Amino acid sequence: MKEQLTALRDEAIAVIHAAKNMNELNEARVKYLGKKGPLTEILRGMGKLSAEERPVIGQMANDVRAAIESTLERKKEELEREVLQKKLMSETIDVTLPGRPVHFGNRHPLTKVIEEIEDIFIAMGFEVAEGPEVETDYYNFEALNLPKNHPARDMQDSFYITDEILMRTHTSPVQARTMERKQGEVPVKIICPGKVYRRDDDDATHSHMFTQIEGLVVDKGIRMSDLKGTLLAFAKQMFGENQRIRLRPSFFPFTEPSAEVDISCVICNGVGCRVCKETGWLEILGAGMVHPKVLEMSGYDSEKVTGFAFGMGVERIALLKYGIEDIRHFYQSDLRFLKQFSRV
Ligand code: DAH
Repeated sequence: MKEQLTALRDEAIAVIHAAKNMNELNEARVKYLGKKGPLTEILRGMGKLSAEERPVIGQMANDVRAAIESTLERKKEELEREVLQKKLMSETIDVTLPGRPVHFGNRHPLTKVIEEIEDIFIAMGFEVAEGPEVETDYYNFEALNLPKNHPARDMQDSFYITDEILMRTHTSPVQARTMERKQGEVPVKIICPGKVYRRDDDDATHSHMFTQIEGLVVDKGIRMSDLKGTLLAFAKQMFGENQRIRLRPSFFPFTEPSAEVDISCVICNGVGCRVCKETGWLEILGAGMVHPKVLEMSGYDSEKVTGFAFGMGVERIALLKYGIEDIRHFYQSDLRFLKQFSRV
């Protein structure tokens, strides 16, 4: 039996040394140490041995098992080292290769203009409000003193979804939504940037979708001079300290009186040029004192409070600010155009 054990040990060690990978090593483990292996068999047969022989053979069997186990362990470490070594070899990094350039994006010029305008008004105590682009006929028209069949509805050709739901044609519905939410509380002092939609054929100066910023102030004792002062402060910060503004009488159903507001031409500084059509002035927004009916419909007492409102086109301001000649550039995602705004 001693010879049997010695032979078994030598054979097992030889097989283990010959193993080329983990699979073969595991096979060897099962073969020599497994429940059905020769060592288990020998140990099982110990009962038949004499009392003197039993401890000697038992000790020897244990030594053989220990020798096989430690050989297995060493071989396992060796194989693992080999695998790691191979992996390290195949994964070498060539530090002399040139780096891959990272392309940084930048904010869209319209986003930049919106943020700049927001900052100016926030500094004057305004909050930024938002409203849905899919709007009800009520908020888009009726709550702004434009009842059904009112001729002024034709001023804005609309995309209707149903009889009562449409894509908002301006950001003015946010005026009514905000006042309703505030439930008669003053002051109301908001601006609202957002996309608006009109049935227009797209060309260099028109787009069926464009961006507006609405403004609304409601409080006790708000006057036309507050509107003028606010807009002048805005124009100076947006276009420069030398800016002047002028108000021309106009009509909007939701304001009375209404005005169109011009800034002195940013190109020629009021002298007259091609951009301002030799007038020295550029129209940038519509404004006025909030119509008493609009205040009443949204829950404000027009005997106690007054307000002013304005609405401007963001694209128009961006076109002027950056000297862009075609509004369609804003929507075409052409990187050659957009990349020019990475540093402004
Ligand atoms: N909503 C108007 C438009 O889209 C712009 C406008 C004019 C808004 C006068 C106002 C305002 O708040 O007071 O043409």
